[in-house]
Amino acid sequence: MTDASNTVSAKDRVLIFDTTLRDGEQCPGATMTFEEKLEVADMLDAMGVDIIEAGFPIASDGDFEAVSAIAGRIRRASVAGLARAIPADIARAGEAVRHAAKPRIHTFVSTSPIHLQYQMRKSEEEVLEIIARTVTQARNLVDDVEWSGMDATRTPIDYLCRAVETAIKAGATTINLPDTVGYATPDEYRAMFRAVRERVPNADKAIFSAHCHNDLGLAVANSLAAVEGGARQVECTINGIGERAGNAALEEIVMALRVRGDVMPYDTGIDATYLMRASKAVSSACSFPVQYNKAIVGRNAFAHESGIHQDGMLKHQQTYEIMTPASVGVTKTSLVMGKHSGRAAFRSKLKEMGYELGDNQLEDAFTRFKALADRKKHVYDEDIEALVDENLATARDRVKLVSLTVIAGTRGPQRAMLKLDVDGRVTAEEAEGNGPIDAVFNAVKAIVPHEAVLELYDVHAVTEGTDAQAEVTVRLSHDGAAVTGRGADPDTLVSSCKAYLAALNKLVARGSRVHAQAAE
Ligand code: KIV
Ligand code: ZN
Repeated sequence: MTDASNTVSAKDRVLIFDTTLRDGEQCPGATMTFEEKLEVADMLDAMGVDIIEAGFPIASDGDFEAVSAIAGRIRRASVAGLARAIPADIARAGEAVRHAAKPRIHTFVSTSPIHLQYQMRKSEEEVLEIIARTVTQARNLVDDVEWSGMDATRTPIDYLCRAVETAIKAGATTINLPDTVGYATPDEYRAMFRAVRERVPNADKAIFSAHCHNDLGLAVANSLAAVEGGARQVECTINGIGERAGNAALEEIVMALRVRGDVMPYDTGIDATYLMRASKAVSSACSFPVQYNKAIVGRNAFAHESGIHQDGMLKHQQTYEIMTPASVGVTKTSLVMGKHSGRAAFRSKLKEMGYELGDNQLEDAFTRFKALADRKKHVYDEDIEALVDENLATARDRVKLVSLTVIAGTRGPQRAMLKLDVDGRVTAEEAEGNGPIDAVFNAVKAIVPHEAVLELYDVHAVTEGTDAQAEVTVRLSHDGAAVTGRGADPDTLVSSCKAYLAALNKLVARGSRVHAQAAE
């Protein structure tokens, strides 16, 4: 079970290279403003990211400004600017990261036959010459140069090794072998790293890096496999945003290494308690919602609804959680109340909300909760509150609702078929009215004749959505005394009836001349 502490260990260190502001921002619709980029960069630095790829300086003036500003303010992490293998790009990237405490230029060129033939229209030898020339140019600007062989996973291994050797010889300090199109499987990707590291004579002079896209949903698995194959830098993004299906998600890599340190003995420098905050900040900055069931940071990642799981969680947290919510910055586990929830969770929820019910009241409230949950997709705290308050209020009522059916619609008259329990005796009546609510109230009067006057009828939704609980307030007056009754139910007519009966019961309890007696 993991907690938030970052302990010093003898495990191998894996550098976290975050590209949320570059590959992440590159995906359709994820554009961030200058201020938002600075805010995200500050958060990445605070959480312990080793390298922040701040943008692609040649792409636009805005990108250049953002990379320069981030380089100027971040003091702990390295700040990288991306550049194609083009002299102008490299110069612009060098200019943008100039003021960084630890500047890095990240330059890339394609290596796969399909990219060389159709996109670059260059021969293998020409590309090797470009690598040597551009990496040297970058190295003349900064000490820390990363070279990426784009589409490395679709590049024949012999040529990939030659390209890597050339880049290292020219001064590259980090070698990134991206799975640009998300095509590799974990076994293949691990084997590729092993092969390149074994076969390239100067491989020990560079740190190897993984950069995975999620086209087949394998980005995180592939990144972890690369680490097993010798990679000691992983490129990733918050929430896994990035080109097409995205990049490997930073939070998943960090937590996989932490939670399964027994089989993957590697450390990152990330303070995982920032993960949720970072996820929210990125999601709101780029207006990209986080899917509910997203690992680590999805809103359901620490939520349990089924009765069996809730029961287990109440007994011991590790029954259904492999990490604590606190370890990733989530305040607490949430037991979502719904139709799958059991008595134990319902009792615990009530306790949390400040209700202590006796066994009978609890049983009654639970039955009504189940009925509500069957009809309603989301049961909010407010729903439960309304349900329990009403439950407590009606415990001593002499007139209780048994069932109600109403025929309403454009063709009147509206008709209510009502059954009430009056002092333990069930009576049924039907009545018509000028509208369904009038019909319901007339049916009540037919069973419990009285002269109280309806002074106020008010309805409002307790929670959101078309399946919200309607809370109705009714005020009745009789002999100069006025009483108010409330009723809640997803069905407005049922809550109207409950509210009317609640007021009526109060009049009965006050001894008004309302007879809690079913009409014969
Ligand atoms: O996916 C990729 O190949 C890239 C490179 C620029 C590193 O993003
Ligand atoms: Zn990429």
